[in-house]
Amino acid sequence: MIEGGAPLTGEIATGGAKNSALPALAACLLTGEPVTLERIPRVRDIRTMEELLEYTGAKVSIGEGLVKVDASAIARPEAPYDVVKTMRASSLVLGPLVGRCGRARVSLPGGCAIGGRPINLHVAGLEKLGATIRQEHGYIEAQAPDGLKGAEVHFDRITVTGTEDLVMAAVLARGETVINNAAREPEVVDLCALLTKMGAKIAGAGTSTIRIEGVAKLSGVRHAIIPDRIEAGTFLIAGAITHGDLTVTGCEPEHLRALIAKLEQAGAAVEQPAKGALRVRVPRKLKSVDVTTEEHPGFATDLQAQFMALMTQAEGISIITETIFENRFMHAQELARMGANIRLDGRRALVAGPTRLSGAQVIASDLRASASLVLAGLAASGETSVDRVYHIDRGYEQIEAKLAGVGARIRRVSDGRRLTKAAEEAN
Ligand code: EPZ
Repeated sequence: MIEGGAPLTGEIATGGAKNSALPALAACLLTGEPVTLERIPRVRDIRTMEELLEYTGAKVSIGEGLVKVDASAIARPEAPYDVVKTMRASSLVLGPLVGRCGRARVSLPGGCAIGGRPINLHVAGLEKLGATIRQEHGYIEAQAPDGLKGAEVHFDRITVTGTEDLVMAAVLARGETVINNAAREPEVVDLCALLTKMGAKIAGAGTSTIRIEGVAKLSGVRHAIIPDRIEAGTFLIAGAITHGDLTVTGCEPEHLRALIAKLEQAGAAVEQPAKGALRVRVPRKLKSVDVTTEEHPGFATDLQAQFMALMTQAEGISIITETIFENRFMHAQELARMGANIRLDGRRALVAGPTRLSGAQVIASDLRASASLVLAGLAASGETSVDRVYHIDRGYEQIEAKLAGVGARIRRVSDGRRLTKAAEEAN
């Protein structure tokens, strides 16, 4: 439940990156020695990955912000449907399990709200490294009894987890693997940094060509994952949409250049008051800007929904083009229910603003769409209730507590008890 209209002011902290923690946890399967990961966010997708690691036979212990994984005994190199259906990123264990155990059985992820999201490029890459792959009963069965062999792989299109999966398969393969048209996301770079600490030989992380020289064995290490640029970006947009004065701490500004450029183009002031901090203010009316989502270092698709909410409050018409996923405008209808003026045209959304948003009951359809609705609720007059917040819990740690800490009027109520303020006072 959100009561809109309060400008966000003060400091809000960024946690560790969900999309870096997930491959980092999967990478623990590549060694029989304990690995300790720091700054792991306590979000639902991480718990799912931890359960999956335990399902394979690894031991997982959780401390304050850190997770220790001991994969000395992998009894079951498998990812069952019941886990994969709740989180597609479970397919990130495919590469490490084939690389380490010479075989893996991983359920195919089904469809997803934002797009078909097949893993054909992961599979094709593993076949290039010599794995025999069969698809049966909704599962990928991968075999490489004599181990994987390095090869040259070209991705038809850039894939983040595809790149991560293949890098993790290649680090224990015989000989050199070259990945062309690789993803350059900071999370890919962070995974390669972890693997290099474990003893892997990797060059070119962060570029479109990654070279991996296979090694016989990897060791246990301690590694702190990078801050979550999508969480930090969401907070920057929250500061702008409420016309507040908000400083996001513990982030990596370098990872947010595309967003910062668009915020400044729209008329926001973005400063860097200290290392790892970004301050956002909106000194004058916001003006509409066009955005096209791209692979990194372009504008992140995971910030598209939040930026659309912001553009509903900007003067003029902004054109938002989604190039990564075929169905990532589910939030537009819900924003329209709050009074936004948005017209969809295939992969483009035309947002006309500014429009006065009024609080309403809205439903979240996926992780980033739910963040966009929370931001719209912060800017709307009256009360907004965002339903199905389990989507937001997948990738944001205690978002309502963090936002309340900088002045947001937001609270979590159980689904069954959607009490309005009046009802609450009446009780
Ligand atoms: C990662 O998903 C992120 N998830 C996503 O974040 C993010 O939106 C996406 O990258 C793009 O940046 C994690 O890192 C866990 P892709 P991923 O493979 O790797 C097509 C969030 O909100 N494709 O780069 O699954 C695919 O359908 C999530 O935190 C194939 O066709 O995305 C898509 O259209 C949502 N075949 C495009 O490529 C394949 O084998 C890019 O997808 C693989 C991908």
